[in-house]
Amino acid sequence: MYFVMGNRDALIQQYPKRGVWAEIGVYRGDFSQKILEICEPSELYLIDNWRFEIRDHNPFSDEAENFSGFAGKIHWQHFGDDPNATQEQNYQHVKTRFAHAPQVKVVRANSIEGIQSLPDSHFDVMYVDANHQYEYVLRDMMEARKKLKPGGIMQMNDFYEGPGGAEQNLGVMGAVNTFVKRYDFHYVAMSYGSYADVMITDDPTSSYVKQFIANLNNSDLTFVGISDPLVPNIRYKFYRKANGDTRFLAML
Ligand SMILES: C[S@@+](CC[C@H](N)C(=O)[O-])C[C@H]1O[C@@H](n2cnc3c(N)ncnc32)[C@H](O)[C@@H]1O
Repeated sequence: MYFVMGNRDALIQQYPKRGVWAEIGVYRGDFSQKILEICEPSELYLIDNWRFEIRDHNPFSDEAENFSGFAGKIHWQHFGDDPNATQEQNYQHVKTRFAHAPQVKVVRANSIEGIQSLPDSHFDVMYVDANHQYEYVLRDMMEARKKLKPGGIMQMNDFYEGPGGAEQNLGVMGAVNTFVKRYDFHYVAMSYGSYADVMITDDPTSSYVKQFIANLNNSDLTFVGISDPLVPNIRYKFYRKANGDTRFLAML
């Protein structure tokens, strides 16, 4: 597994162009825009339910009691007092934003049903960034793997354990590590810093993965190889530099 000293934008710059992509969890389409511009996908499916249900984020009845940092709201307070109205605006924004791009298909659905509606063995890349709780991520991945071409790549956002996610119920690391063991997938690369991305594949010898690694080798990015058994133990230590900047150091 390559631990890359760059963010997720740096990772997607290494993908072969004109692949078939899906992004699950779109929000306002900011990353979709980057996928479109950087990766030039031949098809890009954008799946999101553009809804907000409190029970999807906290299945217990304690509401905000145990989430003190969120001033009465659980997760994503930027959805505002009327989260579903905000989500409707987000959906309209995404539809308008990509109306000019015939390769983009917007699918408004819960992630699992949305993924199930896609063609099987069709995708070079499935980018998973919807509900970040363990069971949701794991289930999204279980469905997404059926849609990947052999040797395609699944990329997950927020593969991270560290202080930056202290107020969130991030289950991505656990879910990815469970999935990798259960389905015999292999880590390919991950980005650096808080809210990192990780990439996995069922076949690290595929031409698609090889091209990604060749592109990474030819880039000016710094990266190190770490053995797969160490990956589930990656943690970050947080430093404040003299100039006030934040620095995250990966601990293995
Ligand atoms: C973190 S945001 C996605 C951000 C986007 N990928 C980006 O990088 O700009 C998560 C999105 O997932 C969507 N989402 C959460 N749970 C979902 C579910 N169960 N089904 C479909 N979409 C869901 C939310 O509506 C939200 O827009």
